[in-house]
Amino acid sequence: MKKNNYALVTGASRGIGKAVAIQLANDGFNILLHYNQNIEKANELKKEIELSGRQVKLIQGDFNSSEGIELFIEKTKKLLNEENVLLHTIVHNAGHATSNGFGEVDYDEFNRLFNANVKAPYFITQSLIGFIEFNGRIINLSSGVTRIAFPHMLVYSMTKGAINTMTFTLAKELGEKGITVNSVMPGIINTDSTASWLHTEEGQKSAKNMSALKREGQPEEIANVVSFLASEKASFITGHNMDVTGGSHL
Ligand SMILES: NC(=O)c1ccc[n+]([C@@H]2O[C@H](COP(=O)([O-])OP(=O)(O)OC[C@H]3O[C@@H](n4cnc5c(N)ncnc54)[C@H](OP(=O)(O)O)[C@@H]3O)[C@@H](O)[C@H]2O)c1
Repeated sequence: MKKNNYALVTGASRGIGKAVAIQLANDGFNILLHYNQNIEKANELKKEIELSGRQVKLIQGDFNSSEGIELFIEKTKKLLNEENVLLHTIVHNAGHATSNGFGEVDYDEFNRLFNANVKAPYFITQSLIGFIEFNGRIINLSSGVTRIAFPHMLVYSMTKGAINTMTFTLAKELGEKGITVNSVMPGIINTDSTASWLHTEEGQKSAKNMSALKREGQPEEIANVVSFLASEKASFITGHNMDVTGGSHL
């Protein structure tokens, strides 16, 4: 009998992914915790979650290249086979943006962004599909930039647009397996990726003006939505791109 109730969370060493891993562990999941460079933070989080009695396995992976994605998939498959584990949920959270605009992004940066933000979720899902339980969940981190035009974030926005399209199309493909596929579209969330701008006076002012709630969001507010989508309560929601922007640009 395979062990179940496992969730794979990518990019869980920091920010939204860390909050998601903690929340899903609180919900009763054992966690396969992916990180890239921050092994110390990943180890700290592993210890923190294990205190709650859940199991945590760390898996490193650099998604900026096809080779890095492939290596991560091989390591993950090996672990799932050795541990005799099935996945209930995959949260595709790892990703990065760029401050380079339309005229500045070159071929290499374009490839890195699409590799990490699009190719990784696609091929990880494709390769691990046989390890996902019936009634499983795939939850993708998209972004509010898919409905609000920010020219200085063009290529990043394009990657998240691809994620939204993958979400509803894959939902149709995987429905027969009982697997739901949804995305969460955060607005401005207080993490390392926004810190250099958000923690300035100008950043605070813009974040306030942007959201109907007049504030930025916290990683836990995204984790709560992921938790809901992973739960039985969301059993009839699939193919949905859920706006969690605090009402940005309404
Ligand atoms: N923060 C926001 O305002 C916001 C808004 C909308 C959408 N999002 C999306 O939400 C997700 C998480 O964002 P965040 O703000 O929490 O990011 P973050 O704090 O910068 O953390 C990024 C995470 O992804 C991992 N990662 C980054 N590049 C990677 C790569 N090339 N290969 C493998 N792993 C990589 C990092 O691993 P290491 O630290 O171990 O290297 C880290 O765990 C992203 O998909 C982002 O696009 C964020």
